[in-house]
Amino acid sequence: MPYERPSVRITPPGPRAKEVIERHRKFVATTTHDPEFLPLVIERGEGVWLIDVDGNVYLDFTSAIAASNLGYPTHPEVAKAVEEQLKVLAHAAGTDFFNPYQVALAEKLASIAPGDFGKKVFFCNSGTESVEAAIKISRFSTGRKYFIAFIGAFHGRTMGSLSLTASKPVHKRRFFPTMPGVVHVPYPNPYRNPWNIDGYEHPDELVNRVIEYIEYWVMSHFVPPEEVAAIVFEPMQGEGGYVVPPKNFFIELRKLANRYGILLVDDEVQMGMGRTGKMFAIEHFGIAPDIITLAKSLGGGAIPIGATIFRESLDMESGAHSNTFGGHALACVAALKAVEVTEKLLPNVAKLEPLFRERLSEFKEKYECVGDVRGLGLAWGIEFVKDRKTKEHDVKTRNRVLYEALKRGLALLGCGKSAIRIIPPLVIDEERAKIGLDILEEAIKASI
Ligand SMILES: Cc1ncc(COP(=O)(O)O)c(C=O)c1O
Repeated sequence: MPYERPSVRITPPGPRAKEVIERHRKFVATTTHDPEFLPLVIERGEGVWLIDVDGNVYLDFTSAIAASNLGYPTHPEVAKAVEEQLKVLAHAAGTDFFNPYQVALAEKLASIAPGDFGKKVFFCNSGTESVEAAIKISRFSTGRKYFIAFIGAFHGRTMGSLSLTASKPVHKRRFFPTMPGVVHVPYPNPYRNPWNIDGYEHPDELVNRVIEYIEYWVMSHFVPPEEVAAIVFEPMQGEGGYVVPPKNFFIELRKLANRYGILLVDDEVQMGMGRTGKMFAIEHFGIAPDIITLAKSLGGGAIPIGATIFRESLDMESGAHSNTFGGHALACVAALKAVEVTEKLLPNVAKLEPLFRERLSEFKEKYECVGDVRGLGLAWGIEFVKDRKTKEHDVKTRNRVLYEALKRGLALLGCGKSAIRIIPPLVIDEERAKIGLDILEEAIKASI
């Protein structure tokens, strides 16, 4: 462990950080940075530590948005595999010529993905592309046009996946029309749902309401169920606020989908790859989806890669969908090693889960502004509210907590309207986890 504790000697943004931010603003196109609350300019990373351009050392509770699950700069086993593969083959048109590297990764993903049936894998470079492939596979294989997705969902920003996304208006403003035929329905959010059901106390009631909404209000009024290609969901909503649905929701959703021959598309781009303590978050919920999308941490934080795993019976005709870098040899080798390393880290995630659950639940007891705490494994959300009864979002406090934490050496990211996501690299140990949680508590105290 190269560092024991965070060390912030120059309040961020320091002089070098300010200079980079200024140049960035001049030359780098619109992204999602918020220099007011998160003026973090990262120069390098080591394990669970991020070092900024002014020499400050931060403990990372972001995993680079769940992409660097194996820590920084790259897990040594993944780095070694990449170095060796670089001497052999990086790219050789994996879509037009065959290579053993993509075959090995596809075999591995097919073997570990839930579902006792034959599977195939489509390779691409990002999350949004893996979702685009899922859309095309669903349409091609079923001949149906409609999709059902959930309010609060994030599935990407290209025009197909954007049509499924429904977490913030800024993603959609000025871009309409996107792909037609997508209908959004409420996600079974136990804390905040249209029926004001306390989904922690009454999970079955919440699940029934959502299923009834889809089947009665949507399907028996305006969307013919026999024309729905797929229902697309996140097993735990990510960008929408790290929301965990009731345990039996997906079992009921599976039954509904089966009644009408509808496919289930499980977007694991953010929650997959061990983040929740299982390789695929849907494994907590006891169903096998027809299609699974992966990206982010699939490449071990070293190489960008996306994948769409699907029932082999859904395959499209040759040439129907492709991309230049799909099946990139180097990316596939990195991903295969990343999957193997992640499998070894699952016990660490399971071991640390109670620490996060207990400590964050304590925050909820102690601080009025903490309205809800939810999560699985090392994927936790903490939502800030102005008033526990009205549940009015407290964006100001959330943003202040982000900055107060950063000043104290803890990197965090927001999500949802007024939540913070807590997603340390899966390689974190108990002591570092405790240090991070202590800083988070100090930041909350300093913000209220
Ligand atoms: C669940 C989910 N799906 C898809 C995406 C899009 O991934 P990418 O940014 O790699 O296109 C994201 C990104 O945050 C995501 O969280």
